[in-house]
Amino acid sequence: MIHFENVFVAYNSQPILTNVSLEIKPGDFVSLVGESGVGKTTLLKLIYFDLPPDEGNVSIAGFTSSTIKKKEIPKIRRQIGVVFQDYKLLDDKNVYDNVAFALHVTGVKRNEIGKRVLRVLADVGLSHKRDSMPEELSGGEQQRVVFARAMVNDPIVLLADEPTGNLDPATALDILQLMKTINSRGTAVILSTHNYELVRKAGGRIIQIKDGKVSEIESI
Ligand SMILES: Nc1ncnc2c1ncn2[C@@H]1O[C@H](COP(=O)(O)OP(=O)(O)OP(=O)(O)O)[C@@H](O)[C@H]1O
Ligand SMILES: [Mg+2]
Repeated sequence: MIHFENVFVAYNSQPILTNVSLEIKPGDFVSLVGESGVGKTTLLKLIYFDLPPDEGNVSIAGFTSSTIKKKEIPKIRRQIGVVFQDYKLLDDKNVYDNVAFALHVTGVKRNEIGKRVLRVLADVGLSHKRDSMPEELSGGEQQRVVFARAMVNDPIVLLADEPTGNLDPATALDILQLMKTINSRGTAVILSTHNYELVRKAGGRIIQIKDGKVSEIESI
């Protein structure tokens, strides 16, 4: 479903990813690990077509980086849920509208939007907070709204970049549980994290980036 073929990425002629080949299948749960600055976010950006590789190819769901047209990029992004490091909710919209916003831009019909938003808020356990403003939520609750927003389009893959970085251990575990639930319904999950405890609890594949190379490891 996601395929990296001999991918090379450099920033200002500084190599970050060198000759990376990788296959991610539907329903995989992948933890992406490696020291700070090693290229985890860069790898996720490649999947999101936010960054073209300097060499090689990244393919996802039938689209390939070397041949994709600019106007096709939004189409593939709609099938990818993202929870990035610097996640932000819209401060002037309540929980419901923060999630619905992701659907308005894709042209889904109004009553369909209502159904999907309420379903996904129930999935993350926040139905009772639908009218709350972001500032009235705890950090963990805000992060669950971000996940709801990422899931509302039923993505084929969820990219989560250090989603538990600012959360206490118990809340981080809640978020992991949420990702596993999403995964059990068929969405592949790629979780980039420094939290090895979480990786052990996740129990899926572990992919490590080190010195520009990507390798699959058994345990951490
Ligand atoms: N737009 C950019 N221009 C130049 N250098 C960049 C750019 N984006 C990232 N880098 C550099 O590329 C390297 C990899 O960055 P990346 O964000 O992928 O690391 P990371 O593994 O996600 O780190 P962290 O765990 O701290 O989030 C870093 O050295 C970073 O400084
Ligand atoms: Mg990063």
